[in-house]
Amino acid sequence: MSDSSLVDPFGRRITYLRLSVTDRCDFRCTYCMSEDMVFAPRAQILTLEELYAVADAFIGLGVRRIRVTGGEPLVRKGVLGLLARLGARPELEDLAITTNGSQLPTMAGDLRQAGVKRLNVSLDSLRRERFAELTRRDRLDQVLDGIEAARRAGFKGIKLNSVVQKGRNDDEVLDLVEFAVDKGLDISFIEEMPLGSVSSHQREVTFCSSEEVRQRIEQRHELVRSNHVTGGPSRYWQVAGTDTRIGFISPHSNNFCGSCNRVRVTAEGKLVLCLGHEGALDLKSLMRRYPGDTERLRQALVDALQLKPERHHFRTDEQVQVVRFMSMTGG
Ligand code: 5AD
Ligand code: SF4
Repeated sequence: MSDSSLVDPFGRRITYLRLSVTDRCDFRCTYCMSEDMVFAPRAQILTLEELYAVADAFIGLGVRRIRVTGGEPLVRKGVLGLLARLGARPELEDLAITTNGSQLPTMAGDLRQAGVKRLNVSLDSLRRERFAELTRRDRLDQVLDGIEAARRAGFKGIKLNSVVQKGRNDDEVLDLVEFAVDKGLDISFIEEMPLGSVSSHQREVTFCSSEEVRQRIEQRHELVRSNHVTGGPSRYWQVAGTDTRIGFISPHSNNFCGSCNRVRVTAEGKLVLCLGHEGALDLKSLMRRYPGDTERLRQALVDALQLKPERHHFRTDEQVQVVRFMSMTGG
């Protein structure tokens, strides 16, 4: 029998899994993908059954929160069925998804019914033309409709995610805050991470630190340090007099690795122990060699955790440190 919990050599207990269900996406955000992105052949992607088996093994080992990601998770066929199976697991304290919002107009109600508790919606611009430039798709209205649909469906924990880039959308920080306050949403501002090689820009030029973003917000709003903790890398502030919390995800300027409680599984079934490292364990091969052998899968996870790196070493002055794109790993 394997251990019933996942603890790494640095004493960090893993209770949070990010599970990518597809590497595909209907957008082509410039910092995430190239226009002519080549996706993995379908046979290389975990089946819905395999995805559930991975989640089940992690739940058996003490994972209590799962975030389903992509690519764009909602373009994966059958994802609602998978979410409903996860939503029915009483052990899970949280089931969340990260989405670009494009499918929410039609799917928000079903997601809520499936037991999804929280949504993160990526939104980097409120200006139509700029949105189209950043995502290479002219779909701002669809995403805004999606956010409305999610509110109507009764979702409470809706959070926007905005990657801030200098000279691209940094002038919209206050507008995005205004939008979040107006709709009663939370918002996190994210420093771009050096994942995958992008052709459209030089990251050291577009880099905008969380500190700078926060100072800009404080010119208009009073921010009160929030004790809200998610176990994640975000640090939160409350916009005084509103329901809105603002998070800052700062892989460059803050090192949050000491309290890391998470691992990721890619759509191809690779267990990624740290976003900032290349190393990954191939769970798909294991599952296809020994179908249904849950004990073997669990033991492989326990063993792999002994290799979780202590920290990442992202820096802004190098173009690429990790060849994987975010769409492969799942935000
Ligand atoms: N750096 C930071 N954030 C990224 N995302 C995608 N690629 C990157 C990157 N290189 C964000 C998306 C979305 C979330 C899933 O990850 O904008 O909000
Ligand atoms: Fe798609 Fe998200 Fe990547 Fe944009 S950042 S291309 S929405 S996976």
